[in-house]
Amino acid sequence: MLKFNENGKFTVMAFGDTHMDDIFSKEGQKKYNDMLALHYAALDEFSPDLCVYMGDNCRIYNLDTPAAVADFKTRIELVTNPVRERNIPFASVFGNHCHDYGYEKEQLGVYMSLPGCIMRNDSPEDVTGFANYNEFIYSHDGKTPLFNLWFIDSNNLGEDGVSKYDFVHKDQIEWYEKRAAEIAAANGGEVMPAFLFQHIPVPEEYDLLRPAKLWETPVAARGHSSWQDEYYMLKDGVTGYLGEGPACPDVNSGQFESWKKTGDIIGACFGHDHLNDFCGEVDGIALMQTKTAGFGCYTDGCRSGVRVITFYENDLRHFETKMKHFKEFGLKAKSLGPFMRTLTDRQSINLHYAAYSAGAVAGVAAAVAGIKNLRRK
Ligand SMILES: [Fe+2]
Ligand SMILES: [Fe+2]
Repeated sequence: MLKFNENGKFTVMAFGDTHMDDIFSKEGQKKYNDMLALHYAALDEFSPDLCVYMGDNCRIYNLDTPAAVADFKTRIELVTNPVRERNIPFASVFGNHCHDYGYEKEQLGVYMSLPGCIMRNDSPEDVTGFANYNEFIYSHDGKTPLFNLWFIDSNNLGEDGVSKYDFVHKDQIEWYEKRAAEIAAANGGEVMPAFLFQHIPVPEEYDLLRPAKLWETPVAARGHSSWQDEYYMLKDGVTGYLGEGPACPDVNSGQFESWKKTGDIIGACFGHDHLNDFCGEVDGIALMQTKTAGFGCYTDGCRSGVRVITFYENDLRHFETKMKHFKEFGLKAKSLGPFMRTLTDRQSINLHYAAYSAGAVAGVAAAVAGIKNLRRK
């Protein structure tokens, strides 16, 4: 049972896309050890009551055989070791890459077999997604459910040819609304305040951004997919860091509108974007990113980090949140070269763009030279 502590607080730590797809190679071991250092330092400092893995934790290619399932279990155990060693309950949502090769039920079975894991599927079999569920936080005496946590499967790639990434489907939204109504009915007819964890962000995240002015372009982030014709900056009042265009679905399935209509969700935390860790409010609901908490995917120097969210028993519609990054823990990454270690996130991204542009220019120059040579012959 999750419950507020004696001081009336409940702290959640979110670990964004760890992408520990490769743990056992020499390079993979370095990345894994850097990830462990971050997770241990963060757990020591914040002592969370619940940890949430935001999906894309560890990609698998098949789970056809018992040996493959055992191998996946070993990997998930390794990723979750810091949390499990401390007997901290943990949850996970599925990321898009968890759906790449199927086997979601097998993956869920592995998670559910681990002591302390609360991940499961509460929605009926025919509802989209493999892990839609909710969990209450009880009063500190353990008697009364006071606050609700939602965990929603945001699926994989869009299958309609319109949206690059998939979205939370209508039947999932209907399941959420029905379940929220049941919770409210059991709560004396009062809506129960809630917070939601999901891998792929809702498109309303773009409401936290504004188009960059021409001179701001070098420090702005290009929009993703439908938004790619524009460069963006965070609006005033939005905290944290915008490192890339949020990779939201191009189709708005109405999930955010459903939250507004239902009235329970005070905030939502997303993964998927490995560089973003901004946080701001849209129509009274806080939307926040948590960037990668590992080194297994594209990162920005030593800026991997964790998000900490604290809820309060005596003020259920109020919470506090902050990010803390690898460097801020005083850690040194062994999986990154000396150059990458010194980079700030924005420098890292600008260099990436510069290298990409230089490569493109070199490619065009080589092609032109080749054509000239052919003509001479
Ligand atoms: Fe993702
Ligand atoms: Fe990812």
